[in-house]
Amino acid sequence: MGTNSEVTLHTGRKMPVIGLGTWQLTVDTAVAVANALQAGYRMIDTSGDYGTQPGVGEGIRRNGIERSAIYVVTKIEETDDAYEATIQNLNELGLDYVDLMLIHRPPASGAGEELWGGLIKAKAEGLTRDIGVSNYSAEQMNALIDALGEVPVVNQIEWSPFGHSEKMFHYAKDNSIIIQAYSPLTRTKRLADERLQGIAGEYGKTPAQVLLRWNLQRGTVPLPKAHQPQHQRENIDIFDFEISARDMKVLDGLNERYSSLGALPYE
Ligand SMILES: NC(=O)c1ccc[n+]([C@@H]2O[C@H](COP(=O)([O-])OP(=O)(O)OC[C@H]3O[C@@H](n4cnc5c(N)ncnc54)[C@H](OP(=O)(O)O)[C@@H]3O)[C@@H](O)[C@H]2O)c1
Repeated sequence: MGTNSEVTLHTGRKMPVIGLGTWQLTVDTAVAVANALQAGYRMIDTSGDYGTQPGVGEGIRRNGIERSAIYVVTKIEETDDAYEATIQNLNELGLDYVDLMLIHRPPASGAGEELWGGLIKAKAEGLTRDIGVSNYSAEQMNALIDALGEVPVVNQIEWSPFGHSEKMFHYAKDNSIIIQAYSPLTRTKRLADERLQGIAGEYGKTPAQVLLRWNLQRGTVPLPKAHQPQHQRENIDIFDFEISARDMKVLDGLNERYSSLGALPYE
């Protein structure tokens, strides 16, 4: 396994096992994205509301890497017209298509069936290869599936050893939905945890690397944000060790439903 390893989505298309997050990566975005691609990242996560789409597009164009070898994820807002916002996002990115377009969060009422319909149309027209959701509960995903018959390929949610759920893990597995883990480093808030540091020490790795490796071994796909080149490199230097089954259980047991946003949006 390496940075160019992939997971297979239920549509048959493939997605890299790790990606770079770009929330708040608003200074020198293009340079940071180009550095990340140079370092080996092949997936970039952005959103219409991050202000990073122009820089992400620019960073991709600056690199000699073929567009088809790079996986771009972005999101429309719950108040948007999903189809129109998809076109707007492509314009900001300066790309003809993205690999994955997500509903950023469910709307205040309902599950966003109309938004989902707009993304289905965008997909049919080739504006996005696949479509998915973010911050959705199992019930909300079921509502979309029941209404339109289209299963999201991913649910992008806050996910780390300190905040996750076996119930969501099994729901996603049973429905062939991949969990993309956002804030996989707990926005640094739990990196000093002594139990995590103890495990990291055993493997000669950093706490951040253990949090990311835990995802790989569970089949969930982390999207660590890192502006600093040294952090970017560290976060993909996770393919040369394996956490033992015993230590994976210890990491699972760190769960306190931690959320940097206040509450996890799923059971
Ligand atoms: N769908 C959603 O609603 C949603 C919500 C939140 C986030 N996201 C996505 O998920 C991505 C990641 O989440 P996040 O940005 O909230 O938090 P995160 O990835 O958990 O943490 C980012 C922070 O960790 C630092 N860091 C990175 N690598 C490190 C390392 N090896 N050692 C120590 N510190 C390190 C970064 O510093 P530097 O930047 O200074 O290197 C930054 O301050 C976002 O950027 C975004 O793409 C999606």
